[in-house]
Amino acid sequence: MSGETDHSMEARTAQGDELEPPASFVEQANVTDPGIYDEFAENWPECWEQAADLLDWDSDYDTVLDDSNPPFYEWFTGGELNASYNAVDRHLDERGDETAIEWIGEPTDEANRSYTYRELHREVNEAAAALRDLGVGEDDVVTMYMPMVPELPIAMLACARIGAPHSVVFAGFSADALATRMNAADSEYLVTCDGYYRRGDALEHKAKADDGLASVDHDVTSVVVDRLGDDYDHPMRDDDVDYDALVDEHTGADVDPVSRDAEDMLFLMYTSGTTGEPKGVKHTTGGYLSWVTWTSQAVLDVKPEDTYWCSADIGWITGHSYIVYGPLSLGTTTVMYEGTPDYPDKDRMWEIVDEYETTQLYTAPTAIRAFMKWGEQYPAEHDLSSLRLLGTVGEPINPKAWKWYYEHVGGEDCPVVDTWWQTETGGMMITTLPGVGEMKPGAAGPPLPGLDVNVVDGSGQPVDAGDAGYLTVDRPWPGMLRTLYQNDERYVQEYWAEYSDTDSDDPDDWTYFPEDGAKIDDDGYITVLGRVDDVINVSGHRLGTMEIESAIVGVEGVAEAAVVGGNHPVKGEAVHAFVITEDHADGGEELRERIIQGVEDAIGPIARPESVVFTPELPKTRSGKIMRRLLEDIANGDDLGTTSTLRNPDVVDDIQAAVEGE
Ligand code: WTA
Repeated sequence: MSGETDHSMEARTAQGDELEPPASFVEQANVTDPGIYDEFAENWPECWEQAADLLDWDSDYDTVLDDSNPPFYEWFTGGELNASYNAVDRHLDERGDETAIEWIGEPTDEANRSYTYRELHREVNEAAAALRDLGVGEDDVVTMYMPMVPELPIAMLACARIGAPHSVVFAGFSADALATRMNAADSEYLVTCDGYYRRGDALEHKAKADDGLASVDHDVTSVVVDRLGDDYDHPMRDDDVDYDALVDEHTGADVDPVSRDAEDMLFLMYTSGTTGEPKGVKHTTGGYLSWVTWTSQAVLDVKPEDTYWCSADIGWITGHSYIVYGPLSLGTTTVMYEGTPDYPDKDRMWEIVDEYETTQLYTAPTAIRAFMKWGEQYPAEHDLSSLRLLGTVGEPINPKAWKWYYEHVGGEDCPVVDTWWQTETGGMMITTLPGVGEMKPGAAGPPLPGLDVNVVDGSGQPVDAGDAGYLTVDRPWPGMLRTLYQNDERYVQEYWAEYSDTDSDDPDDWTYFPEDGAKIDDDGYITVLGRVDDVINVSGHRLGTMEIESAIVGVEGVAEAAVVGGNHPVKGEAVHAFVITEDHADGGEELRERIIQGVEDAIGPIARPESVVFTPELPKTRSGKIMRRLLEDIANGDDLGTTSTLRNPDVVDDIQAAVEGE
């Protein structure tokens, strides 16, 4: 790993303080025994029966881990269960009248919707009957392209009930992104929505869904939820099905939850990688559900009587694992908020915590940086004393933001868990156990018990404490992805090839590579430094540079493009595009606009470039590779160091002139 990266990270993670978790928290925590680390290490892999035991199984598994064919591991083999039964039905006796989902719309003058477990059970059954009626069968992939409306988790659970894997596409993604994912998954069903509210406006969503469907190369049945009512009279195409009307036809229907094999697919989630094609990450019913349920209990300290709030969008993995499956499997109340944190004012989050007396808050560092910028007066206006635990996920959190969160939101009375994980890991991997370990702002923490995580150099040897290296995971875990959808070869190539002997069938020869850089301290605490592949993390959202580059190259007049991530005070990273036009000239405002639009059309507004710099050439090494690091330095205004290894060193002056002229 290069010295420059290490240096800038050093600045970001200047550490020193260690904090004990508050005694009042520890007294009541779900996990308090430090012996859990040794216990799990000694009793591996059987330790993970503790996670499986949190679920209700229709039939017991025979084997905890089948590692006979690495890296195609299987967990809880032979067991059968249903995720919707675990998230809903099994709570009916004791918690039927307690709130399962507390849904808060963005407009403050409308009635929010809360669903008891009994009501959720009704809705899920009726939706399951409705989907079946449309022809959805076991193993059919149902795509969902919906904002934060209650029908989204209801439809997910309805799919789980009938054994149909869902593939949720973030509503902020573009029509093209929807089409790519539906084509890749051969998905013949779509559940979407007319629109949603954003900062007071009714925004239409359905037109985007329809545009996407126009590029899907097979027939699709599309079901449309009416969120906006009279605020938007959405057009329906001939074959579109109205969600409410369809569900009404099934009022009172009961659908038996289908027993699924532990290894049957629960869902697919597309995520960005190094190449342009999004990766269809496959998660299974037994391993994934055990993992998110156990981590919700052990790390987020979820208890049934809590009002737990994760402010992510369900369109990302965090929402799947820690708004829907984990919390509901534990029978708690999970909060779902439709809008943004600054509408109608910058205290909306704190107003919600205050009003609903939420007990946990799990959010992203980018949100915390925005809160800091807005000022501590906003949280100070509200009673936040109901909070017991705070969490972060999605990107590194610098100690300053960590401390702000701890002090101004947690009142120095709540532990903060900085949780490192990925779409592929299903759930949390590196974090302190809040009732056990001390906290070090800036460092995520040790790996969870039962995990074998290391920081190594390029040849796989552990690095010294404090040195930067690459994160690796040396043993399988129940929540891990099983493969990339219909692409076993890419699965091996992307995640295992780097540090494994891929000819071996000995699981000890296999190591998972998450493509993150990290360092580890003398106490085994890991500070995650960020991606080492061509992935940019904008506001905690993963974007592939290749995807953005191919969108830009698709714009008329563009010959070549390189995209890099530059530092950004709130978003963490921002997209910077360096573009060569067909005539090697400055493309001007008009082309710049078309490039930005092209990226929004291909991916979505989250990928919008912060800057577009026209350059006659891109800096290339002698072997013809684009020197991205140099472009990153230019985007960050950093010293460039030596450029003598370039084939075309003169280009650097041209680019810098273009940046200044922009
Ligand atoms: C980054 C989100 C530092 C990391 C759950 C990872 C983090 C990528 C942290 C996965 C953290 C996530 N500290 N970096 N606590 N959490 N990341 O798949 O680079 O959207 O590889 O999953 O986010 O992003 P994904």
